[in-house]
Amino acid sequence: MAKGLDVGTMNILSAQQDGTDTVFVQQRNSFVEIEYSDMAEQMLSRSEVLHIRKDDKVYVVGDDALNFANIFNKETRRPMKHGILSSSEKSAIPMMKLIIEQVVGEPAYRDEKLYFSTPADPIDSDLSTLYHQKTIESFLSDMGYDAEPINEGMAVVYSELADNNFTGLGISFGAGMTNICLSYYAVPVTKFSVARGGDWVDEQAAQATGTPVDKVTSIKEDEFQLDFQTDVGGVEGALSIYYENLLEYVINQIVTEVDEEDIEEGLDVPVVVTGGTSSPDGFEELFRDHLEDANIPFSISDVSHANEPLYSVARGGLVAARSDEDVDHGQEEEAEAAASE
Ligand SMILES: Nc1ncnc2c1ncn2[C@@H]1O[C@H](COP(=O)(O)OP(=O)(O)OP(=O)(O)O)[C@@H](O)[C@H]1O
Ligand SMILES: [Mg+2]
Repeated sequence: MAKGLDVGTMNILSAQQDGTDTVFVQQRNSFVEIEYSDMAEQMLSRSEVLHIRKDDKVYVVGDDALNFANIFNKETRRPMKHGILSSSEKSAIPMMKLIIEQVVGEPAYRDEKLYFSTPADPIDSDLSTLYHQKTIESFLSDMGYDAEPINEGMAVVYSELADNNFTGLGISFGAGMTNICLSYYAVPVTKFSVARGGDWVDEQAAQATGTPVDKVTSIKEDEFQLDFQTDVGGVEGALSIYYENLLEYVINQIVTEVDEEDIEEGLDVPVVVTGGTSSPDGFEELFRDHLEDANIPFSISDVSHANEPLYSVARGGLVAARSDEDVDHGQEEEAEAAASE
């Protein structure tokens, strides 16, 4: 056994192997604070709703937060921002702890290997990811896991580029960030993030059209396509404009950051894109078009889109954890064999 965990600004997911299947458990990284009342207590105690009570408040956490926010006419709050623990949310740590515990569950045995995703430091802001990473690591260690961080872009390479010797450029378009990693034979050569993703697209489109952000997010997730044929002046038109701007911005950062010297001579690099923000129809094509137009200082063999964009990072963490566990077992067996000689 071993587990992968994707700690994302909008979604937290675990992955583990069950025979030939990979099983995922997912929760929205969100919560709502409601006044404690008998009604709330009754509703909550009879259900499977993830919640904690503190003094005269009840916090409903994860996927149910949005439903409760609607019922009680409250706003949801988010423990993370731009890929890391939010410094402006004082309840971030207990909420994250609860969601992570629910999503990964107890370890199957003490020191079960678990790889959790962590973003690279962004090149376009001074955010540091270290505090976030160490905090998540300590939750998982307290639970009894042998927890290791894995760079989010590297997790994409583990998940999607196994057939190419874990060599290529992995890009995860998330909610709070976009993470990019160039890997050579499973060794990260260049990794960085930009502090823009789906949340940025939503905020910009909301501001431009005077629409509430939550409304923009649900339009985007429900029916939106990147076909540039619809809705000039409406929310979908604004979403298209900011989507295109995000792609151009990310590609420009790749041109600046990935140096020719990083790439072995004569090597064609495959590129794989994933993450929730890469979901709309038309995303892959738009990305490919913009990449072709850009002055990329290396040769690209192929651009592909992950089949299940929300699952790539958790799956990559699982692949890394399982191969690490195999190495450990191999060493134990060698040690045992040596001892019995
Ligand atoms: N069908 C969809 N169409 C468009 N956008 C979507 C869709 N589904 C999810 N998203 C967007 O994808 C983003 C969430 O993606 P993902 O779960 O990969 O991010 P995350 O890992 O939580 O964030 P990060 O990696 O930045 O910390 C959100 O902005 C969400 O609105
Ligand atoms: Mg992510």
